[in-house]
Amino acid sequence: MTGILRPEPGEGGLLLALAPTARTDRRRAWTVLDDTGTGLGTVSLTRTAPHVWRLSFTAVPAARGGAAAAACAAGAAARFAVDELDARLLTWSAPVGDHPSRLVAYRLGFAFEGTTRTSAVPRWHASVEPDRLRSPLDPPADYPLAAARAAAFAAAPPLLGIAGTGVHLRPFAPGDVAAFADACNRPESAAWTSITLPYSPGRARWFAERYAPEGWRAGQRVTLAVADDTGRCAGDIEIRLREDDLGTGDLGCLLHPRLRGRGLARALVGALCDWAFDALHLRRIESQTFCGNTAARFMLERVGFRIEGTLRAHALLHAVPTDRWIGTLLAADRDDRTGGGGRVAAATVRQVSSTPSIEQKRRSRA
Ligand SMILES: CC(C)(COP(=O)(O)OP(=O)(O)OC[C@H]1O[C@@H](n2cnc3c(N)ncnc32)[C@H](O)[C@@H]1OP(=O)(O)O)[C@@H](O)C(=O)NCCC(=O)NCCS
Repeated sequence: MTGILRPEPGEGGLLLALAPTARTDRRRAWTVLDDTGTGLGTVSLTRTAPHVWRLSFTAVPAARGGAAAAACAAGAAARFAVDELDARLLTWSAPVGDHPSRLVAYRLGFAFEGTTRTSAVPRWHASVEPDRLRSPLDPPADYPLAAARAAAFAAAPPLLGIAGTGVHLRPFAPGDVAAFADACNRPESAAWTSITLPYSPGRARWFAERYAPEGWRAGQRVTLAVADDTGRCAGDIEIRLREDDLGTGDLGCLLHPRLRGRGLARALVGALCDWAFDALHLRRIESQTFCGNTAARFMLERVGFRIEGTLRAHALLHAVPTDRWIGTLLAADRDDRTGGGGRVAAATVRQVSSTPSIEQKRRSRA
């Protein structure tokens, strides 16, 4: 059939054909077929401005070849836009949280441009110029990290517990607002954090209901509530991921004073770091804490972080430029954790489940 596009053979020798379904000055569309003639998805180009074409694609979720088939089909259409339609810029957009689609765009060399919130569903945007367009068979060097991140954030957040204590990490729920604000407003917490005080219920609500779940959906961070043995929120632990270095994350944590001094922060921080090394394939986790915050420094060191030095006048603490200690934990350090504390953390923390418990579902509905 005339107009059929034949992408390069995909991973595992998967052969595809793109059969045209639309052909106008402003739009080209194809059905993606495998070598048996089975439909795997669709791919299309839409001209949005002179020499600017928007690339869109869908994949049948259970399609043979999965992500590789989507990348090959999208790559072939993108190349067609450059070679045959004189495209000088290709754009891509998808709802925030569509990690498989973003991964295909990343594989093809699209550079992430940002997020718009002008519609009910926020959208990601990216673009690529012809000389930066990659073959789907030549992904960026850090593509495996991007793939691990996409797979992790497409699933539910982890639930991590300390055996025998009932204390655990879980996603924030609407009922956490007052307890979280209380944990933040304690003088012992406020002393070493740069949050604006008092930490109002409105701010806590934004944190629990928007910041934490939206950060997970966007694959930017894992922000979990610390819950005591009754399920009551008693703080948070978070790892924020860097856009410019997919192998590094930044850790922060806060525990209500009533739970402090029992090794719980150490165990939970250790568990979340282990999860991040395993699920996100991080190479390095960094944590900064204001100089003088010995509890945080000791806690980090007991997890296995190495304090590497002091960042001078690094951030404002209660409006005063203040030095910070910088600590790092490498994936390679995990086997070297010493002093019993690290060993205890690794032995006593277990992943409870990757799906919400009945109790959690009940709470999140409440
Ligand atoms: C940082 C914080 C989470 C630590 O909580 P915690 O309950 O004290 O931590 P842990 O009980 O797990 O303590 C871990 C280790 O540090 C030791 N430690 C804690 N405070 C200490 C102190 N002031 N001096 C010496 N050692 C201390 C503990 O004894 C423990 O060692 P061990 O395992 O050998 O007994 C808590 O102090 C907090 O929420 N602070 C406010 C927010 C903050 O500063 N965040 C830091 C940003 S990373």
